[in-house]
Amino acid sequence: MELSSKEIEKILNLAITLKKEAKQGFFRKLLKDKVLAMIFQKPSTRTRVSFETAMLQLGGHAINLSTSELQLSRGESIEDTARTLSRYVDAIMARVYIHEDLIRLARASSVPVINGLSNNYHPAQILADLQTLLESKGRLRGLKVAWVGDGNNVCNTWLIGAALMGINISVATPKDHSPLKEAIDNAKRISKETQARIEILEDPIIAVKDADCVITDSIVSMGFEQERDKRLKTFIPKYQVNNELMSKAKSNAIFMHCLPAKRGEEVTDDVIDGPKSLVWDEAENRLHSQKALLCYLLLNEDEIIKNFSYP
Ligand code: CP
Ligand code: NVA
Repeated sequence: MELSSKEIEKILNLAITLKKEAKQGFFRKLLKDKVLAMIFQKPSTRTRVSFETAMLQLGGHAINLSTSELQLSRGESIEDTARTLSRYVDAIMARVYIHEDLIRLARASSVPVINGLSNNYHPAQILADLQTLLESKGRLRGLKVAWVGDGNNVCNTWLIGAALMGINISVATPKDHSPLKEAIDNAKRISKETQARIEILEDPIIAVKDADCVITDSIVSMGFEQERDKRLKTFIPKYQVNNELMSKAKSNAIFMHCLPAKRGEEVTDDVIDGPKSLVWDEAENRLHSQKALLCYLLLNEDEIIKNFSYP
């Protein structure tokens, strides 16, 4: 929500340049001596490793902080933590349960705060997804994305990302698992300018019709483990992405999933391991799009222009 369509376009172009040039080592000093603090209240494989690798490969450094080793675990406030970290580091990335905690962190911090996933949103993931879709289809505007499954943090962010980039999005979820009203309202508001079509449905077959890309995510997100049995009954088989459902999308449709996947639940092996699946490119693009995001946040426009030519 804090990035405009133009800014996202710039970040995606930076990401593609960085990916192309990574092997030449051109950008090894871009973030020299910059430090990123990474706070994790929840587990992570991709987010942690891609942010840490991104900082290292650009000449900076990342400090991994699980909440149990911070004074946060002993009652120091989020605000005091933010004020302290802001005196040491150049940016903070945080993965939290309660979205409001992230807002409090950002309000009290004098350095940029990046959402590394909250219960409500996962924007770093959607930058990588947009990059993957752009690389695969050569454009974003006018494409159709179908989201099938839980209307969770990744889905909420996809609604915003699609609306901003002029991508038509059809979301199919069970009735009680639709995306956040706030995300739907914002997506609809933004779409008035970008002409994106925002559709919230229950029927996955209608959602995937004519889709260029089908996306799903786990049925049981982190923090919802106590609902596991009930959710599996609600979602499977109707909201499982299998070959039969994929066959109802465009014949050249791609499949994406932010991972980790629960094979046999939200997606079958033949789809995630099949020829339409771009999940490993999508995971790789976390590295490139986050490098671009970090440059965008930590360098001024002159430094960016000096170091990159936008394609
Ligand atoms: N997609 C994603 O954010 O993965 P991790 O939970 O492994 O960081
Ligand atoms: N919706 C998932 C995303 C994991 C990257 C979760 O919040 O657990």
